[in-house]
Amino acid sequence: MSNLIKISPSILSADFSKLGDEVIALEKAGADYIHIDVMDGHFVPNLTIGPEVIKKLRPLTKKTFDVHLMISPVDNFIKDFSKAGADIITFHPEATPDISNTIDLIKKEGKKVGISLKPKSKLELIEKYIDRVDLILIMSVEPGFGGQKFMPEVLDKTKKVKEIIDKKELKIDIEIDGGINFENCSSAKKAGANVIVSGSTIFRENQGDLKKNIGILRTN
Ligand code: DX5
Ligand code: ZN
Repeated sequence: MSNLIKISPSILSADFSKLGDEVIALEKAGADYIHIDVMDGHFVPNLTIGPEVIKKLRPLTKKTFDVHLMISPVDNFIKDFSKAGADIITFHPEATPDISNTIDLIKKEGKKVGISLKPKSKLELIEKYIDRVDLILIMSVEPGFGGQKFMPEVLDKTKKVKEIIDKKELKIDIEIDGGINFENCSSAKKAGANVIVSGSTIFRENQGDLKKNIGILRTN
């Protein structure tokens, strides 16, 4: 994984009645990844989609499925999401009794491993596993819903992650997720994020002009 900016639109803000068309449209509009938010009504106070839906979307695009699991306990579902077609499987450290084992389970499936920190979760929680992951997802809102306000206080943590991975000369994606808009995306990039997740901005700004919105997020 590299330092080039990648845009990962969150389909949480898509029209769920035509999810397939929305994913195809995102690919055409220049998305790098497709960010898929999986919520269980327990780890977070909202419910979304499961492996069956991802399986149906899988044949529609070759784009990387960036699957953000907000489910607990997470281990029992890793195989299902892998089989459904996830490429990156991201979990929250609080959602497993054994972080190391969860990383192993994802690797055993041949998938890329992502680990995510909620706004109040400390970097120390994951620090000793950094060498074994492909992506670190910094949440810039409390997980659970799209359309919330960006929390600038997570930028310090983003900078620290960037410092650590540079020092160790690791090739790890730093992804930022939540409340990203045309203004704050540059501060996220400056802090070290190279994968930008966005739901509401991509689907709602400029009358939902996906291509334009992805382009602005990429260059701003
Ligand atoms: C929140 C999700 C985010 C969310 C982003 O729990 O992880 O991916 O959909 O949506 P916006 O860009 O609207 O904050
Ligand atoms: Zn997400």
